[in-house]
Amino acid sequence: MAAFKQLVFSGVQPTGNLHLGNYLGAIVNFVKLQSTHDCIYCVVDMHAITVWQDPAELTKATREVTAAFIASGVDPKAHIVFNQSQVAEHAELAWVFNCVARLGWLNRMTQFKEKAGKDRENASVGLYAYPNLMAADILVYRATHVPVGEDQKQHLELSRDIAQKFNNDYKDTIAARGFGDAFFPQPEPLIQGPATRVMSLRDGTKKMSKSEPSDQSRINLTDDPDTIALKIKRAKTDPDPLPDNEKALEPRPEADNLVGIYAALADTSKADVLQKFAGAQFSIFKPALADLLVEKLSPITAEMRRLKDDTAYIDGVLADGSRRAQVIAAETMKSVKDIVGFVRR
Ligand code: TRP
Repeated sequence: MAAFKQLVFSGVQPTGNLHLGNYLGAIVNFVKLQSTHDCIYCVVDMHAITVWQDPAELTKATREVTAAFIASGVDPKAHIVFNQSQVAEHAELAWVFNCVARLGWLNRMTQFKEKAGKDRENASVGLYAYPNLMAADILVYRATHVPVGEDQKQHLELSRDIAQKFNNDYKDTIAARGFGDAFFPQPEPLIQGPATRVMSLRDGTKKMSKSEPSDQSRINLTDDPDTIALKIKRAKTDPDPLPDNEKALEPRPEADNLVGIYAALADTSKADVLQKFAGAQFSIFKPALADLLVEKLSPITAEMRRLKDDTAYIDGVLADGSRRAQVIAAETMKSVKDIVGFVRR
């Protein structure tokens, strides 16, 4: 297999408010990876419209996610931050991938089944083809590493299958064009940290989600300190004190979730947190967790608020990022057209 330059790519959908799950599951890792890799972070507005989005809300949410990236420490000058729809090559490669991916592969996607629900006939074609666009997002940069949450693992596997089938279907023209035995890399998921799955504060078996009706179930990145403290105070737990080992957390999903959140925020392991809090009641642990949340989130929240009002700055970041992204994407598309046999200028 040919060697590919290491490159990180990831995407976040601009739908609704960002919450702690988005922050710990994705953005924290985005920030960390900047010191070891070239990174491209994309606000995937084209994925968002696979289900209905109010246009004004979509614009607002796109700027908000961008502000959250920057407020959290993503450096849009050293790396690339942009919104998907400004680089048309994503859609262009997605079409080619629509013709590479098989119906049988997409039929297995659990996220589609969940999102489409019972009324599948009424789901958009875009929702069904969503994973092909995601593969195009990654592969139009020939990215090798993709920081994502647990729930995106299956989509990453599909991206690998698409890359492999493309490399195989077109192996003769790929070799003839000097790309050896593979034009696309096999992108690998990076699922890191003690809080890859932040769960609902009301039910430790359900993911923290913006679509859950109860706002008590999540910490929003825009929550003020009092709200955070109250939500943690009311978070569901069991009556036992914290154990001294991780194994004992397994049958206690709510306790496990809160310990995981603490560990991720403190940048340590669950084992370390348990060492500190073994034997403590939740009446001790919860206020400590709330304090840590406020300490870590409030500077980000404040910076987000400041940036949100500066739409000229945010839109400038996205314009600059999309220009730089497009240079790479256009280069890939030229080669893809040659490999597939499209006549081009
Ligand atoms: N599907 C991802 C999510 O819902 C978002 C996404 C779109 C993405 N394109 C991507 C993530 C490419 C990683 C790489 O979380």
